[in-house]
Amino acid sequence: MKVAIVGASGYAGGELVRLLLHHSAAKVTCVTSRKLAGTPLDQVHPQLKGFTDLKFENPETDAIEADVAFLAVPHTAAMQYAGKLLSRGIKVVDLSADYRLAKDVFEKVYGVPHTDYFKAPYGIPELHRKDCINAKFVSNPGCFPTGATLAAAPLAHYAHTIIYDSKTGVSGAGDNPSATTHYPNVGDNVGPYKLTTHRHVAEMRQEMAFLKSRATVYFTPHLVPVNRGILTTAHILLNEPMEQKEVEKLYHDFYRNEYFVRYQKPILAAVRGSNFCDIMVESEGSRIVAVSAIDNLVKGASGQAIQNMNLMCGFAENDGLTGAGMLP
Ligand SMILES: NC(=O)c1ccc[n+]([C@@H]2O[C@H](COP(=O)([O-])OP(=O)(O)OC[C@H]3O[C@@H](n4cnc5c(N)ncnc54)[C@H](OP(=O)(O)O)[C@@H]3O)[C@@H](O)[C@H]2O)c1
Repeated sequence: MKVAIVGASGYAGGELVRLLLHHSAAKVTCVTSRKLAGTPLDQVHPQLKGFTDLKFENPETDAIEADVAFLAVPHTAAMQYAGKLLSRGIKVVDLSADYRLAKDVFEKVYGVPHTDYFKAPYGIPELHRKDCINAKFVSNPGCFPTGATLAAAPLAHYAHTIIYDSKTGVSGAGDNPSATTHYPNVGDNVGPYKLTTHRHVAEMRQEMAFLKSRATVYFTPHLVPVNRGILTTAHILLNEPMEQKEVEKLYHDFYRNEYFVRYQKPILAAVRGSNFCDIMVESEGSRIVAVSAIDNLVKGASGQAIQNMNLMCGFAENDGLTGAGMLP
């Protein structure tokens, strides 16, 4: 199966190529970058030297020959490619925010008009699997909403308030350097940002509504000096107190058949490079603390995108994604 990656010079694109090396049937045949057309992929992603001789191409939608295309491009760019690729019979997984929200919510949150809107399955497979199976297009969720939603989903019905507090690694911002990601500002430091206004809260609220929760949802992110990973502490305030045994049973039952969700103490480095989401919960009566850890570039982006491709194309859901994390 031929795979194209639009935006392959970025972090998520590079990670797609790395992970797909281990897929039983998918072969990356086209990688794009506008700035680096003609340049060998391994010049930008030296970790892939010896595994591929692909060169970057310009992202010309008419020239892309593939069965599946991943859009690993910024929001507003994906909407320029998605419809055209679909009309040529190419299945698409979009890693950007362009198709995650309802049109009016997207336009309000991102402050731009949507020029090619259509409704798409929201690809957290653990919650939306039946919509992703055989789909032609899946919108891959944001990294924060993935870890946060998986942490709180089992308690969605019981909560009146959910407060997500997340710590993220710097690769979440992509490979474009900025003052925020400049080493002296990040290294040996921890800093909050967008305390009440991060765009991803819209996805978190949408997911709680999908789960028929009436909980009010809040979110504050922090940047920590690691390259990869998101650790989310969800403070889940319940209508009625719940004992530790009962909460644990709820989580075990909810994720009983989920390969990628493990019930154990979340350690950022233990999920690094893998598609796993580690979760644990502790009860303080009517406050439950649920903590999750994911790799923002894998379960938070490229790994989950491949999980979705597998569902769309009829492969085993974990094909290409069985690698363990990298502790320490
Ligand atoms: N980083 C994460 O942890 C993470 C997690 C979840 C989701 N995402 C989402 O995944 C997408 C990619 O993220 P990233 O971190 O990999 O970003 P990145 O490192 O900045 O890479 C962006 C890629 O898109 C290409 N690109 C930019 N504008 C384009 C356009 N108009 N048309 C075609 N290609 C374009 C870039 O190459 P050229 O400019 O040379 O074409 C580059 O290859 C974003 O939407 C991001 O929000 C990222």
